[in-house]
Amino acid sequence: MNPLIEVIDLTYSYQAGSDDEFRALKGVFLQVWPGEMLAITGQNGSGKSTLARHFNGLLTPQSGSVLVEGLSIADKKNTAAIRKLVGMVFQNPDNQLVSSIVEEDIAFGPENLGLPPAEIRKRVDWALDTLNLQHLRKVSPSGLSEGQKQLVAIAGVLAMKPKCIILDEPTAHLDPRGKREVLENIMRLNREEGITIILLTHFMNEVVHCDQMVVMEQGEIKLRGTPYAVFRQKEIILELGLDLPIAAQLATGLRQKGFKIPEDIIHTEELVDCLCQLK
Ligand SMILES: Nc1ncnc2c1ncn2[C@@H]1O[C@H](COP(=O)(O)OP(=O)(O)OP(=O)(O)O)[C@@H](O)[C@H]1O
Ligand SMILES: [Mg+2]
Repeated sequence: MNPLIEVIDLTYSYQAGSDDEFRALKGVFLQVWPGEMLAITGQNGSGKSTLARHFNGLLTPQSGSVLVEGLSIADKKNTAAIRKLVGMVFQNPDNQLVSSIVEEDIAFGPENLGLPPAEIRKRVDWALDTLNLQHLRKVSPSGLSEGQKQLVAIAGVLAMKPKCIILDEPTAHLDPRGKREVLENIMRLNREEGITIILLTHFMNEVVHCDQMVVMEQGEIKLRGTPYAVFRQKEIILELGLDLPIAAQLATGLRQKGFKIPEDIIHTEELVDCLCQLK
C-alpha cells in the first residue's frame, strides 16, 4: 500500500528571508495511510495548521516535499487534482459558508469542479443524507447552531468526494453536544465511507478515537503512534504541554490510591469496565 500523503523533510518559514523569519516547520517526515483517522495535536503555535495547509496546496514547501497519491504539491499543474483528493474544513464554519441556503452551499464545491447538474444534485443529496442534514436543506446557514453550521461546512467538502478530509480544530467553538455530534459524524465518515481523516485538535477525548496520533512541538513531530502507545509516555506528554485523556488521568489517580487498575486506559468505557470488576 502506498501512503495517501507523504511528507519528506518539510521545512517552512513565515517571512522567509526577512529579519522576522520564523521557522514554523523543521524537517518534518510523515506518512498518512489511506483509510486511517490521524490526529495531529500539540500546543498552540506548534505548527499543526502550517503542516496541514501543505496537504492540499494552500502552502507550498520551501524545502522538502509533500506528495499526495504521488503527485508533488510543489507542481502547480497538480493543484486541481490534489484539491479533489484532499478537502479542508476550518475551525470557524462562517468562513466556509458562502450561500444563503444550505443546499446551495453544499453544491458550491461540486459546481466548482465543473460537474453536470444531475451529478451535483446527486452529491448534494448524498452529503445531506450522510450527515443527517436533509431536514435543513432549504434553510439559511445563518440561522443554524454552530454545530449544525460545522456539519454543513463538512457536507460541502464531502460533496466533492475527496479521499481525505482535513479538519482544523472543527469543534473548537462548539458546546459539548455540538462537539460530540461533529466528532461522531467525522468518525462515521471514516469508518463507513472509508474517508481518510486528519483531525487537528487540542481535545484528547477526540484524539483517543483516532487510529494514529502525532504530537508536534516547535515545528517538529515529537511523538507518533497509536493513542495507546503515545499516552503510555505520560511524562513526555505532560512535558509537551498536553493533557492525558480524562480516563487515563482518573486511572492514574486510582492506581496511586492503591486500586488495581491496569495501564493502557484511555477510553471512559475501559475505566468503567475496570471499576465494575473491582470488588
Ligand atoms: N501568517 C503567519 N505569519 C507569521 N507567523 C505565523 C503565521 N502563521 C503562523 N505563524 C507562526 O507559526 C507558528 C506555527 O503556527 P500554526 O498556526 O501552524 O500553529 P498551530 O499548531 O496550528 O497553533 P494553534 O493550536 O494555535 O492553531 C506559530 O508560532 C505562529 O505564530
Ligand atoms: Mg492551528
